[in-house]
Amino acid sequence: MVFTQTAIPQSSTGQSSTGQSSTGQSSTGLSSTGGPPAAADLPAAIAALKQQKKAVILAHYYQDNGIQDIADVIGDSLELARKAATTDAEVIVFCGVHFMAETAKILNPGKTVLLPDLEAGCSLADSCPADAFAAFRAMHPDHYVISYINCSAAVKAQSDLICTSSNAVQLVQQLPPDQPILFAPDANLGRWVARQSGRPLTLWPGSCIVHESFSEEALLRLKQEHPDAEVIAHPECQQHLLDLADFIGSTSRLLKRAETSAAPGFIVLTEPGILHQMRQRVPHKPFFEVPGADGCSCNACPYMRLNSLEKLWSCLQHGQPALDLDEDLRRRALVPIERMLALSA
Ligand code: 13P
Ligand code: SF4
Repeated sequence: MVFTQTAIPQSSTGQSSTGQSSTGQSSTGLSSTGGPPAAADLPAAIAALKQQKKAVILAHYYQDNGIQDIADVIGDSLELARKAATTDAEVIVFCGVHFMAETAKILNPGKTVLLPDLEAGCSLADSCPADAFAAFRAMHPDHYVISYINCSAAVKAQSDLICTSSNAVQLVQQLPPDQPILFAPDANLGRWVARQSGRPLTLWPGSCIVHESFSEEALLRLKQEHPDAEVIAHPECQQHLLDLADFIGSTSRLLKRAETSAAPGFIVLTEPGILHQMRQRVPHKPFFEVPGADGCSCNACPYMRLNSLEKLWSCLQHGQPALDLDEDLRRRALVPIERMLALSA
């Protein structure tokens, strides 16, 4: 996966004109040259386009603040999948990464699903190629296959059940006690789920580059500087960091914890996009992000951050990039997703 920005289409794909005002700007902000509006005009232009196209904007907590501020729904993977399953909008703009938009398309074959930047992939999904996964499954024919939603449609299609970090423990606990389980692709999450559920899991050795980047040294320093702060961590983090956490949960659980805990502050071990919501909802408490090793800012997901307001405007304006899926693959991938939604209702 390449982290470079993709070009923003400057020409229309044949969608109907938005009509120019006397100032040379359309209601949707299209400039007189056909390019995107000025940065300050983007939120209003996106809102107008969204209404015109009967679109809904879903955004993950790891998106840039500006995208979170104009989204109709902000959530974690499970909340966004649920919303994608029930929305009556004609167009779904998924401000997240590819597997999330793909899941929305699997659930809504008749709708247009847009992803502002098609290059917004996921290291975790990439760590589990479908053919290698098929070989791994073949080595464990008696195992029930649970795949984290952070995987491709081709891996979902080989799975019995999909889970997210919000419902993984609860779903594993619902399986018969003697049922062997294969869990993919995140080994850190899998180890945590095994501990929480008391069930041994056969793990695929995948990981997220973001959640593996946090510096233990920086975390220990922050703990020393803020001894009363609570350490809250996403289960995709490595074991040695989870061992230092006071609370572990999905992004939405971490947000809830920040709202309900009596702690005077929080050290947050997940992608720092979530801090935008935390600071808005708990404005009187400090939140500290943990840097990556060597103080780098690699704790920000390079895939999630490919999306921008300009690309969001562009995909609404041009109706692309849109997700497209082979129908047979979509049907097979739908089965374990629908099972998850039914079991975690
Ligand atoms: P959740 O949305 O389930 O917390 O997962 C975080 C993540 O890494 C999404 O890519
Ligand atoms: Fe994938 Fe990790 Fe980015 Fe989530 S944070 S999208 S798991 S690379």
